[in-house]
Amino acid sequence: MGRCSKPCISESMHNILKGYGIILVILILNFKKKGALNVIELNKVSMLYPGTKDPALEEMSLKLNSGEFLFLVGPSGAGKSTLINLLFREKLPTRGGIYFDNKDISAYKKEEILQHRRRIGMVFQDYKLIKQKTVFENVAFALEVLGYSPKEIRIKVPEALKKVGLSHKEKAFPKELSGGEQQRVGIARAIVKDPDLILADEPTGNLDRDNGLQLMELFEKINQEGTTVVIATHAWDLVDRMQKRVVALAGGKLERDEKGGYDHE
Ligand SMILES: Nc1ncnc2c1ncn2[C@@H]1O[C@H](COP(=O)(O)OP(=O)(O)OP(=O)(O)O)[C@@H](O)[C@H]1O
Ligand SMILES: [Mg+2]
Repeated sequence: MGRCSKPCISESMHNILKGYGIILVILILNFKKKGALNVIELNKVSMLYPGTKDPALEEMSLKLNSGEFLFLVGPSGAGKSTLINLLFREKLPTRGGIYFDNKDISAYKKEEILQHRRRIGMVFQDYKLIKQKTVFENVAFALEVLGYSPKEIRIKVPEALKKVGLSHKEKAFPKELSGGEQQRVGIARAIVKDPDLILADEPTGNLDRDNGLQLMELFEKINQEGTTVVIATHAWDLVDRMQKRVVALAGGKLERDEKGGYDHE
């Protein structure tokens, strides 16, 4: 007994502290997972489509921190979709740099581009659901192409559908859903892969005001859980209502960047 009382105490203390240390690391890693995307930065980005005279974007600089909610507004042709496509690495800028976590995404090779897109959930105006697949299958498909196992799919798809309030429509086909419901499937498909960033281009463009508002509130909920959200929209009334950061473009240039409303005069 005398032989081990002190060392035993310090040894068990050591083990307890080691245990806490491991738990702490797990907690930090979990926290990091949601906040994994630190910052998006555009540095003097210009985009001139081949065969056009005027740039779709001109010397655009912008910084977006992890967990932000941003509306992109501006008249038709202002450059909103171009910016969304550049962020998805669908297109390359003519000049300037786009950085995710300080990495220039223009320099990405094929595998890095795929990795990059895996971190992003896209939501489209026309939903882009597969007609022949059920709601469950549409959402599952987003995971299948990323190589998730059937077991993971059976867990993750119902979770995503629950978040968007469509658990009861798992077996329905897109044509059996309202526009608002179809777009909620589109959102479930975007969030099912736990993205760091949601990019939505006119997500409420085909919906009435009430459905549009419900969707914006859903985006807000997703954002509150840690996902960065960027939404290009013309829906000035919804932008006014949400009171988030608004970046206004006009003729490819950044015109305004502040928290508040659409400023639709
Ligand atoms: N693939 C393309 N080829 C040539 N020009 C293009 C292409 N895509 C967009 N443009 C031009 O780039 C400019 C910006 O277009 P963009 O689609 O980004 O605008 P937007 O703000 O999304 O407009 P909207 O509100 O109508 O969706 C426009 O002048 C458009 O004509
Ligand atoms: Mg557009």
